[in-house]
Amino acid sequence: MNVYVFSSRRFEQPELEKANQGKHQLTFFTARLCEETALLAKGAEVVVVFSNDELNRKTLEQLVALGVKMVAYRAAGYNSIDLVAAKELGIKVARVPAYSPYAIAEHTVALMLALNRKLIKAHRRVQDLNFSLDGLIGFDMHGKTVGVVGTGKIGEKLVRILNGFGCKVLAYDLEQNENLTGKVEYTDLDPLLRASDIVSLHVPLTDQTKYMIDAAEIQKMKRGVMLINTSRGGLVNTKAIIDGLKSGHIGYLGIDVYEEEAGLFFKEHEADMIADDVIARLMTFKNVLITGHQAFLTQTALENIANTTMENIDHFEKGVFTENFLIK
Ligand code: NAI
Repeated sequence: MNVYVFSSRRFEQPELEKANQGKHQLTFFTARLCEETALLAKGAEVVVVFSNDELNRKTLEQLVALGVKMVAYRAAGYNSIDLVAAKELGIKVARVPAYSPYAIAEHTVALMLALNRKLIKAHRRVQDLNFSLDGLIGFDMHGKTVGVVGTGKIGEKLVRILNGFGCKVLAYDLEQNENLTGKVEYTDLDPLLRASDIVSLHVPLTDQTKYMIDAAEIQKMKRGVMLINTSRGGLVNTKAIIDGLKSGHIGYLGIDVYEEEAGLFFKEHEADMIADDVIARLMTFKNVLITGHQAFLTQTALENIANTTMENIDHFEKGVFTENFLIK
């Protein structure tokens, strides 16, 4: 089959080629798939997309008109597709539900530790031959209360790491994860926000979770709280977060995702002006650490993503619709 890969980055092409084993004709586009670029899919039977490709109804209509039969997400989160439209239009959709929850959980902890122990500031100082320790005081993770919002695959791995540090872990989820019995204390969101020194978000972005952290929720948090978001930018109202940082209510912010990241992340913009005032403001805070949606980026995860994506395409070709298919 003709398989077109959108939003393709150089580092993932070898893994996809390897997993393909020469079976399908792969064509790589750096362009993000959206209404404006959908015409590029002419000739494809399958499009392979990433989380920031924009598969709204208009994009999907164009894909179907061009003869595309399947959308294969090489990602877990699928909030960027209109599944109702996909179903109506009869286009199949698959994703990679799990490739390495460890990768994201470990990056989450990396953000926590780098913020807490001020590693970026310390590194810059040492590079300038400044070995002063002033302003570098951190806190022991041991004994701190961490609120984990969402205890699915990633949240579970995070809880286990935090248990290792000796943290007290509170958790909020619609469903309790049985694997975590004795390892966390489940509460409602409100008490979790009020009691936690660190709050970390691991729920998907849905209509229910959009802006689940807004001005009112920030007010409930402890003054000086550390907020970490490696899930989806839209879970937090970034403008309210900026107010929280300005007032000092939020003491540290670590994010791997940003609500307006599409078009900004995954690209080099060195020669550009940053047109987005919100992220530009975020970048001015010394207690904010931003990574550009790289939590998934480990060698193990890349191999798993490529293998499952190609398996999903093979299954589609054979008419076998596994649980990885969102629309069968
Ligand atoms: P999962 O589906 O295993 O777990 C999600 C958990 O959220 C479930 O336990 C579910 O019950 C809970 N949940 C859903 N809606 C809720 C609500 N309204 N209130 C409370 N809990 C709710 O998903 P997984 O694999 O743990 O991934 C979580 C998210 O992480 C993904 O949806 C994705 O957005 C993000 N992600 C980020 C990556 C990155 O590179 N930064 C990479 C992979 C995933």
